[in-house]
Amino acid sequence: MTDNLVVSGHPLVEHKITQLRDTTTDFRQFRSIVAELSMILAYEATADLDTKPVEVQTPLTTTAGNKFDERVGLVPILRAGLGMVDGMLSLIPQAEVWHLGFYRDEETLQPVIYYNKLPEDLSTHTCFILDPMLATGGSALAAVDILKQRGVTRVKFVGLLAAPEGIAALQGAHNDISIHVAAVDERLTNTADAPAGFPPGFIWPGLGDAGDRQFGTR
Ligand code: PRP
Repeated sequence: MTDNLVVSGHPLVEHKITQLRDTTTDFRQFRSIVAELSMILAYEATADLDTKPVEVQTPLTTTAGNKFDERVGLVPILRAGLGMVDGMLSLIPQAEVWHLGFYRDEETLQPVIYYNKLPEDLSTHTCFILDPMLATGGSALAAVDILKQRGVTRVKFVGLLAAPEGIAALQGAHNDISIHVAAVDERLTNTADAPAGFPPGFIWPGLGDAGDRQFGTR
């Protein structure tokens, strides 16, 4: 763990990420596990958010309490990030959900944006970019750029698997972003060692394509 990288060491997270890697996990199970992991990572990634003191009336007396005091925007990167929304919302139901669509060009590995549904007023929010995979980091980096251009000052990336290359790229471009992931894998594949059916640039050993595995499209 460096200052802004948090790799969950929770035993349930390790168990569930192992299930996601397993090819015998079908897409219905895969979707459920992505949602469960997202809830756990939401708990971890929100640990430093603000509360404000309030007085609360219990059945016996009044006492001091705390109320969650942040405006939160969840930014799932289509398509695979969609599967992380419900888990996050189960802990932060008041969050807004803003969609950004990127696909990764399989030749250049560069992100191509095809959808942007950010609201007008977002600069006061803490934003959580949701994407199961941080591979080259190109998609996450482009999403952070868009949010910062729109005035957002606090951005967190929440993902499931990351490659060291993607972490380095994101940290190199934006050292103020906190990165919360379930696991960090060895590396990205290259043209010499990419397995059949997978273009270079996949996380190794990884879990395959998180979008295809959630939605049954492979
Ligand atoms: C995958 C993944 C990320 C991106 C990661 O999306 O879900 O969005 O690639 O790669 P990067 O870090 O190198 O940018 P994909 O292009 O497969 O689209 P999908 O979500 O529609 O499956």
